[in-house]
Amino acid sequence: MGVIGGSGFYSFLDDVTEVTVDTPYGPPSDSLFLGDVAGRRVAFLPRHGRAHHLAPHRINYRANLWALRSVGVRQVLGPCAVGGLRPAYGPGTLLVPDQLVDRTKARAQSYFDGEPLPDGQVPHIVHVGFADPYCPTGRRVALAAARGRNWEPVDGGTLVVIEGPRFSTRAESQWHAAQGWSVVGMTGHPEAVLARELGLCYASMALVTDLDAGTESGEGVSHEEVLKVFGENVGRLREVLFDAVAALPDGAARECGCADALKGWDLGITLP
Ligand code: ADE
Repeated sequence: MGVIGGSGFYSFLDDVTEVTVDTPYGPPSDSLFLGDVAGRRVAFLPRHGRAHHLAPHRINYRANLWALRSVGVRQVLGPCAVGGLRPAYGPGTLLVPDQLVDRTKARAQSYFDGEPLPDGQVPHIVHVGFADPYCPTGRRVALAAARGRNWEPVDGGTLVVIEGPRFSTRAESQWHAAQGWSVVGMTGHPEAVLARELGLCYASMALVTDLDAGTESGEGVSHEEVLKVFGENVGRLREVLFDAVAALPDGAARECGCADALKGWDLGITLP
């Protein structure tokens, strides 16, 4: 199991082994922190680095997912901070999206771009299916874990991922809301598609830290506000994640189909 912690979420387990992993794409955001939850091996990775030194557009998403897979991770839960695009989704709302809209602009979002790896392997061009970007099992388990901790989650909705690092203008935000999208964040993509390209299960857990600029009439969003609200909720988010990790089926016995994303493709490279 892998957990990628978001803004304000820099450690998960108390008793951990820290391992440094390098990848053909360079280093991940930080060391991996390996530990046990309910007898399961878990790897935690702080998405922005433990000192929050990486802005969303500077995160090496390819290295992060590759590193997690290289230590045996097959299922990933990705909590992240988001802004609410509807008044009903105020700070403290936990939404488990079932759809994603990619509005990022300049991020490497594939392993299969024909660029040779440092060891000389050349990835072929591969087009994975992404109609349903999230693992149905991961979503179900995340929803049940939240309910089990009396945190009624929003089941489904669309996460629109912007390039950042700036927040949206009011006009952009109102446009996002008018499309019917639910929440806005900066890191949910390309994390989700890279997981799919590695045959990993991936589910996002979007914690609303603010109402986005077009949904409220105040000053707009600030990073302090995001960190404050995430910090206030990180305790219960950790509990939910513990329960979710304990409830996920064994990685070798996955029935969701995520592992088959690359079936039939000649990859040209060996996955870690
Ligand atoms: N992360 C947390 N709040 C956000 C917002 N309003 N827009 C984009 N990313 C966010």
